[in-house]
Amino acid sequence: NIFNVVLSGGVGSRLWPLSRKSQPKQYLPIFEGETLFQKTVSRNAELCDKVMIVGNCDNYKLSRKDLNAAGVSEYREIIEACPRNTAAAIAFAAFAAQPEDILFVTPSDHLIKSGAEYQKAVKRAIQLAKEGYIVTFGLKPSRPETGFGYIEAAGEEVKGFREKPNLETAEDFLKSGNFYWNSGMFCFQAGVYLDELKAFEPEVYSASKIAFEGALEGKLDFELSMKIPSISVDYAVMENTKKIKVVPSEFAWSDMGSFESIYDHFKKQGHQVDSKGNMVIGTNLHTEFLGLKNTLLIQTADAILVLKKDNAQDVKKVFERLEKEK
Ligand code: GDD
Ligand code: MG
Repeated sequence: NIFNVVLSGGVGSRLWPLSRKSQPKQYLPIFEGETLFQKTVSRNAELCDKVMIVGNCDNYKLSRKDLNAAGVSEYREIIEACPRNTAAAIAFAAFAAQPEDILFVTPSDHLIKSGAEYQKAVKRAIQLAKEGYIVTFGLKPSRPETGFGYIEAAGEEVKGFREKPNLETAEDFLKSGNFYWNSGMFCFQAGVYLDELKAFEPEVYSASKIAFEGALEGKLDFELSMKIPSISVDYAVMENTKKIKVVPSEFAWSDMGSFESIYDHFKKQGHQVDSKGNMVIGTNLHTEFLGLKNTLLIQTADAILVLKKDNAQDVKKVFERLEKEK
């Protein structure tokens, strides 16, 4: 079987105040009236046999609603008691599958153009996964983004994987020309993933296994889950595995992770930007920017955020501070 494993754990803290704990960004119907979650499931339906959702107790009802809207009635659901990051989330999916099942792991919060290029890349990845590889998708980088992983490659061979480098390093990577952005989607056999996780992060492996086996009706136990070290799949497996391959990909892709990508996307869609690169999102009120360049103003019913585009990664800090103050 080929499973589309949809990860839906993040709250999208870098998109506050658009994205909230109660309604994370993947459930905002702001993309041609559809949500990113819905689009993800629809896009992969014909490439995979089955769907598996790994989400949490705060959002699984929103996922169910979107699955319905996407016309998917049969799916496996794993509900986390608390987020333990992606290495564990993917391990749960792998434990729920047979070792030889192919897992096509996708975030639920990306905007991707479905079409021939996408299908070609995913089909190639599935083929490589059947051969026992851990497959990543490489996209041509267009800026030294520090929120992504970078893959150094020659064809499908991977020379190195580096998660979230600092700006200087990212700039060097772009200059060298041999680096791709990691798309955040992965493809491998469930058993291959678990073997690699066990080799590089044995504690994540064993604590995830215990938590998974202790789950009741797909819901994981809080105490057992809290024992799982929180680490992303990128640091845990991708930076270490020798079984890694990359499918150089050409499909249009955007991680709607920060206001920088939201800005780029809306700009391409014809959303208004003034001559100094300033943009307003979420209000029709007449707005003036004096002496400001590349500034965004985001307004929702109960909050306003004003930021320099360069500070897009720091929105997370605001979100975290507000959570603490609650
Ligand atoms: N179920 C579950 N549980 N899902 C989770 C959890 C969790 O604990 N933590 C994160 N996720 C989901 C997020 O909702 C998102 O869909 C996906 O897993 C990836 O997590 P992010 O937190 O968005 O990762 P990132 O954007 O910092 O980095 C990853 O994606 C980049 C591309 O967008 C990495 O793979 C980078 O290498 C990559 O470039
Ligand atoms: Mg992301």
